[in-house]
Amino acid sequence: MQAREEAAKSFDPEAIAPLLLAWYDTNARRLPWRRLPGEERQDPYRVWLSEVMLQQTTVAAVGPYYSKFTEVWPTVGDLAAADDADVMAAWAGLGYYARARNLLACARAVAARGGNFPDTEAGLRELPGLGEYTAAAVAAIAFGRRAVVVDANVERVVARLFAIDEPLPAGKAAIRFAAGQVTPEERAGDFAQGMMDLGATICTARSPRCMLCPLREGCRGYAQGSPERLPVKAAKKAKPVRTGRVYWVERDGKVLLVRRPGRGMLGGMRALPDDGWSAKGDGADALAGDWRAGGIVRHGFTHFDLELQLMLSVQPQAVSLPQGEWWPVETIEAAGLPTVFAKAARLVVAGRTD
Ligand code: ADE
Repeated sequence: MQAREEAAKSFDPEAIAPLLLAWYDTNARRLPWRRLPGEERQDPYRVWLSEVMLQQTTVAAVGPYYSKFTEVWPTVGDLAAADDADVMAAWAGLGYYARARNLLACARAVAARGGNFPDTEAGLRELPGLGEYTAAAVAAIAFGRRAVVVDANVERVVARLFAIDEPLPAGKAAIRFAAGQVTPEERAGDFAQGMMDLGATICTARSPRCMLCPLREGCRGYAQGSPERLPVKAAKKAKPVRTGRVYWVERDGKVLLVRRPGRGMLGGMRALPDDGWSAKGDGADALAGDWRAGGIVRHGFTHFDLELQLMLSVQPQAVSLPQGEWWPVETIEAAGLPTVFAKAARLVVAGRTD
């Protein structure tokens, strides 16, 4: 315990970056979008694309999406010229589809300025859909600017380093300020990615491996004991549950898909017909016809959980059908359905015995 107290007393924010960068130089994860220390900087388009995707899901899950996008649209100009529907379909499964629409809007804005991303954090902030995090990450990683990059991993590492115990989200301001105190002038991109890697591999949420941590000696959370309790999170409110119906209408091995309206939940995506659950309605758009219940599909969205009753058409000719396209059931996985509808399709297909 004594050594820990000594460490707490000798805390010096400026000592952090050199230790972290030295660790990153030998421990950086090899990731498809990443250039390692000493290598030439990565194309800003690829940095931006990967950072937008990484806000959605884990490093492992982003890999195939990043490969697909960069194969099909190798430059920002290619993405700008893509069909909206193709991009939405390629994004399917990553979730939060407003982000895919912003992705396209941003690619088009960059293409309109000659294909060059602005090279400062403030300039990047002016692009459609670029929030505080993405602008800072791209400025630091793609352009070597000093920028304070705070994602969930960095938040955890910094909360522990400074023993910030003000519960999130209110504690975010203090964490941001502290992150600014340790961010160096040089190599801010490597620093940010080093903090992310440290958070992902050593300073993990449940059982941090402090014995392997290059920052242990300066870590107040470690010095106090129980760093795993940080950051403190305010109790989450229970999410509301919405219910609705989703329809599976099949004829001759093909299923009816509709295109959702451009605005609103899952806007512009291909989908199975439903009863309007996303409009907070009362299911007033339910399809008339003879239906058989096919099970329940559950899906968690950011602000609510959804339970959809899957309805299978018994006599399709008796159903009043919306406009749409007939898609072969055999290749339904290639339709680019958002996850909630892909789950419904899997429920139908898995229930078949032939
Ligand atoms: N998470 C978000 N961006 C990242 C990056 N550039 N490297 C590792 N993890 C990340």
